[in-house]
Amino acid sequence: MSEPKPRAKSDPGILRYDAFSRINHWLIAISFVMLVLSGLPFFHPFFWSLTGLFGGPTMTRILHPYIGLFMALFFAIMAIRFFKVSLIKRHDIQWLKQIKDVLSNHDERLPPVGKNNAGQKLVYWIMVLCVPLLLVTGLLIWQPYFADAVPITLRRLAAMGHAYLAFLAIITLIIHIYSGIWVKGSFTAMIRGRVSKPWAKHHHDLWYEEEMDKERRGKEHRGKEYREHEMSNQQHPSMTREEPK
Ligand code: HEM
Repeated sequence: MSEPKPRAKSDPGILRYDAFSRINHWLIAISFVMLVLSGLPFFHPFFWSLTGLFGGPTMTRILHPYIGLFMALFFAIMAIRFFKVSLIKRHDIQWLKQIKDVLSNHDERLPPVGKNNAGQKLVYWIMVLCVPLLLVTGLLIWQPYFADAVPITLRRLAAMGHAYLAFLAIITLIIHIYSGIWVKGSFTAMIRGRVSKPWAKHHHDLWYEEEMDKERRGKEHRGKEYREHEMSNQQHPSMTREEPK
């Protein structure tokens, strides 16, 4: 199917992500990438040279947990704000069953999609599972603060869990970035905040209808307010007359 044209500068389009959500998202994205780069050297010596990016092995070891705390905090904010739009609905199950149509670009065969499609919702839920568990397992192995108080078996399990969870989160992030590149206009949405109406209709038709409904109701409400204001001015002509000086 042909892709909708990008939003023209004069077209206000529809707001997809407000400034707060965008800044929040990019802070998470930057800190996540820094976590990967600072965590990999401790996973395998092959990645040891990456410690150079953080001022050497000692600094990398010190910084990694603090970046983790920062990421977890901002992720918690995003998880709360995106919770409602990420709830799995019946049409999402159908969308997942038709994953072949998604991958072969047969969007016209897919069931209607809300603000986020089932793939985006899965990314959200996998991260909601991974980030808190990464935080807990990370705290359990954090030297010199907590690790010494944790029994050695639990520490070993936490270290192993931390690595597996990081692996799952990294794979999920790669799919997330790939789908952002796959669906043209997604990056613009997360950078500028607004998308064109044809883009919204093409990729998220249910959300588009909801937004159009809000726009219509907003216009009706403003029209009603305007008419009421006009009528009250006619009933009280003194209000429109200028006061004598
Ligand atoms: C370099 C890293 C990242 C890039 C390039 C990226 C890119 C994007 C883009 C383009 C969107 C907008 C998609 C749309 O509305 O169609 C988006 C949304 C989102 N991102 Fe990211 N992201 C990154 C990292 C992350 C991380 C680390 C997380 C969570 C831990 C995350 C969670 C989300 C969520 C929950 C959404 C909203 C739903 C969705 O579109 O999946 N992102 N991201």
